[in-house]
Amino acid sequence: MSEGNTFDLIIIGSGPGGYVAAIRGAQLGLKTAIIEKDENLGGTCLNVGCIPSKALLHSTEMYHFAGHGAEAHGIDLTNLSISIEKLMAKKSRTVDQLRGGVQHLMKANKIKVFRGLGMLAGDRKVRIKEMSDETVITSKNIIIATGSATIELPFLEFDGETVVSSDQAIAFDKVPEKLAVVGAGAIGLELGSVWARLGSQVDVIEFLPAIAPSFDKDVSKMAERLFKKQGLNFHLKTKVTGLRKSKGKSVLIAEKDGKEIEFEANKVLVAVGRKPYTDRLGLEVVGIETDDKGRIPVDTHYKTAADGIYAIGDVIPGPMLAHKAEEEGVACVERIAGQAGHVNYNAIPNVIYTEPEIASVGQTEAALKEAGIDFKSGKFNLAGNGRAIATDATDGFVKVTACSKTDKILGVQIIAKSGSELIASAVTHMEYGGSAEDLGRTIHAHPTLSEAMKEAALAVDGNAIHSI
Ligand code: NAI
Repeated sequence: MSEGNTFDLIIIGSGPGGYVAAIRGAQLGLKTAIIEKDENLGGTCLNVGCIPSKALLHSTEMYHFAGHGAEAHGIDLTNLSISIEKLMAKKSRTVDQLRGGVQHLMKANKIKVFRGLGMLAGDRKVRIKEMSDETVITSKNIIIATGSATIELPFLEFDGETVVSSDQAIAFDKVPEKLAVVGAGAIGLELGSVWARLGSQVDVIEFLPAIAPSFDKDVSKMAERLFKKQGLNFHLKTKVTGLRKSKGKSVLIAEKDGKEIEFEANKVLVAVGRKPYTDRLGLEVVGIETDDKGRIPVDTHYKTAADGIYAIGDVIPGPMLAHKAEEEGVACVERIAGQAGHVNYNAIPNVIYTEPEIASVGQTEAALKEAGIDFKSGKFNLAGNGRAIATDATDGFVKVTACSKTDKILGVQIIAKSGSELIASAVTHMEYGGSAEDLGRTIHAHPTLSEAMKEAALAVDGNAIHSI
């Protein structure tokens, strides 16, 4: 093995987990290589996930405002129109800029980038296959950061045309007249919002009794009410069972209370979750077995069953979130380098970027009840916040939940404009083991939406100032 092909650290996969781990490795003085099978670095998040969807959400939110809210501000936008081609081009420019950014970061940190499919070959080796070329590189430390792929329903196979995943739903070339969305989780709600704002009739079909079911019930309820007003049609406790094509039309078949329901649709977006991606990785070669959900089991140091092979991000248990993968990447590399990297799994924020945004950190009230933990909650409605009134952002609330005995913050739930930004201060307080009183006594600038966080913390003990 030539010196050039021997590294201190090899990372397979260049999503937020992989490329951040690579940078941390380089910062710690490790000779680092990263392998990517796709054309561009950045993984799902940058290329077909978080970033393009946020660009589309931003553009369509402005379009929606132009058509529905601008007039009240004295802005006249008669003859409003939107070009899907230009909208998509704007999204692509955003993605391109960030791809360039990741590429630049690899170069600046002297990380060797290999293009091709990385396969574990045993004996600390990784084979990289690109077309007919094959390179073998070696390292004492290999991190699997191969991420996840969309789940397909057996009776609703992706055809890329009618039945699609989020990969295609961020790139339709025209507004589908009727869009059926299977699943009211993050992807279903975000992309359902995008196309509803652009004029699609959107039917969201969810198996569970609530939309955004991983959040507190009051958050889900308010989200349902607000998104309904924006034109999303929800069909809860409804199970999708198949697709029928007749006379050139597609009809999605579902079942509710034992009765069959039909949804005519030009496009069907299946957003029922993601599964770990380990195809052709060679796990069997190194003796790694996946669990019943296809995930790679790891210990607290992210070590797999194979010596010198680690795994992080969507491919291991835990929430499938870019920032969780990033933190695991950093912690894993720090431990490889002999440092004490650590991820606080109680303080991972979770956000759905609708309007208003839904955000949470820590435990839900349902989880606390199930665990038998006594808690108290304080809620503050945005309707009592001055900045919210001045900026048309009065829909929603912030809720802080704390331990009844110690006052330690156990969870925060938000449905509010900029909820994704508001949640950060709650995460910080939780990271330091803060109490509701600590948060309530923290000075927040006036007038800001963030004051709703302080007020919700004060409300835990009935002390909110602007509660109506
Ligand atoms: P998800 O797990 O968030 O939601 C899937 C929903 O589909 C669930 O509510 C589930 O009950 C429902 N469902 C499952 N089977 C069904 C069926 N046969 N009929 C009707 N409903 C059904 O999954 P999603 O939205 O596909 O997202 C995938 C992953 O990507 C998640 O882990 C999510 O957290 C992550 N993600 C995160 C984003 C963010 O942080 N904003 C954005 C997009 C995705």
